[in-house]
Amino acid sequence: MANHERTVVLIKPDALQRALVGEIIKRFEQKGLKIVALKLMRLGDAILNEHYGHHKEKPFFPKLKAFMMQAPVVAMILEGIDAITVVRSIAGKTSGREADMGTIRGDFSMSTQANIVHSSDSKETAEAEIKRFFKEEDILDYTHGNYNFVYGEEERG
Ligand code: CMP
Repeated sequence: MANHERTVVLIKPDALQRALVGEIIKRFEQKGLKIVALKLMRLGDAILNEHYGHHKEKPFFPKLKAFMMQAPVVAMILEGIDAITVVRSIAGKTSGREADMGTIRGDFSMSTQANIVHSSDSKETAEAEIKRFFKEEDILDYTHGNYNFVYGEEERG
């Protein structure tokens, strides 16, 4: 049985300000990932302390939080086989300067902080982030018209 997963992507304030939202969503859609939730939201202190809790002791933590509060973010849940790994490879390495061309960060970022997108890094993180950013009713399941063409019969299960 193929590993169908859901993962969270945040399109960060730098991408919003640089009018890159459409371009980024387009890349995920064209890959064949299914959007099951999508919304614009402002992140406050509490949710950022939770989301970036593992970076609390890092020197860049206060500036990272201020950066994430500069403008709204687009939060979405993407679904697909091995979606967590696939989305992380589309995003590229954390630093835009090190990320390969062809990845979102490689193509659009020159920064480690202003790196355009965030994506869940494991199954456990994805589950926690889905609960952190979305209510049950934000998540809409539906049959995607391209499903039979995005995957082979074996993968569809
Ligand atoms: P993200 O994938 O959201 O996970 C943690 C974020 O912290 C990362 O993307 C960057 O935006 C930011 N970050 C990581 N390392 C640094 C750093 N050295 N300096 C500034 N920001 C960083």
